Amino acid sequence: MKLDRLLTELETFGAENDSANTERPKRMLNITRDTGQLLDVLVKANAARRVLEIGTSNGYSTLWLARAAKSLGGKVVTIELSDYKIALAKANFDRSGLSDAIEQLQADAGKVLADTPDAAFDFIFLDSERSEYVGWWPDIKRVLRPGGLLVVDNATLHQSEMAPFVGLVDGDAAFSSSRVPVGNGEYLAVKAR
Ligand SMILES: C[S@@+](CC[C@H](N)C(=O)[O-])C[C@H]1O[C@@H](n2cnc3c(N)ncnc32)[C@H](O)[C@@H]1O
Repeated sequence: MKLDRLLTELETFGAENDSANTERPKRMLNITRDTGQLLDVLVKANAARRVLEIGTSNGYSTLWLARAAKSLGGKVVTIELSDYKIALAKANFDRSGLSDAIEQLQADAGKVLADTPDAAFDFIFLDSERSEYVGWWPDIKRVLRPGGLLVVDNATLHQSEMAPFVGLVDGDAAFSSSRVPVGNGEYLAVKAR
């Protein structure tokens, strides 16, 4: 299948690129394949047609989200700041056959979140600048619909950086949360209905 070949190609590209580049803006920092498989299951299990991704990079994780959302008649909105990564992602989306299920936004995620109406998304995948998460939390909480699912990457790999954010969500009575030992560790939080 064409998309599976592209995903495999991007896994090789990401691994080779990230081992050759030490500067963070040039690194792809993609999720692992098993995280992609988990996202696929979670989008479908949650019947999530309105998916938001914060942190596109070159679009590897977006493709997993978009395939799942499209199978339900939905789409993914994905946000990225870097010109360089947006161009790489666009080229990958054009090749994927999923462009119609992907809306790319070049913007600061904090500004997009602030301008997004309440309960606009069924599913949010957060994989961006971890120091921003605590500041983004009130809007993330607001734009996720009741019953919606938040998934955050790097819960294990960057556990200490994630701790302030995880503490906030764990302490919020409107959310039930769990850490899943897949890939770099996924933090899952579902909003009460
Ligand atoms: C870990 S990478 C995303 C990897 C991607 N989810 C994947 O698995 O293929 C994080 C991305 O967030 C972007 N980013 C950082 N701060 C941002 C912000 N304030 N708004 C939007 N994107 C941001 C970075 O440029 C970087 O490409």
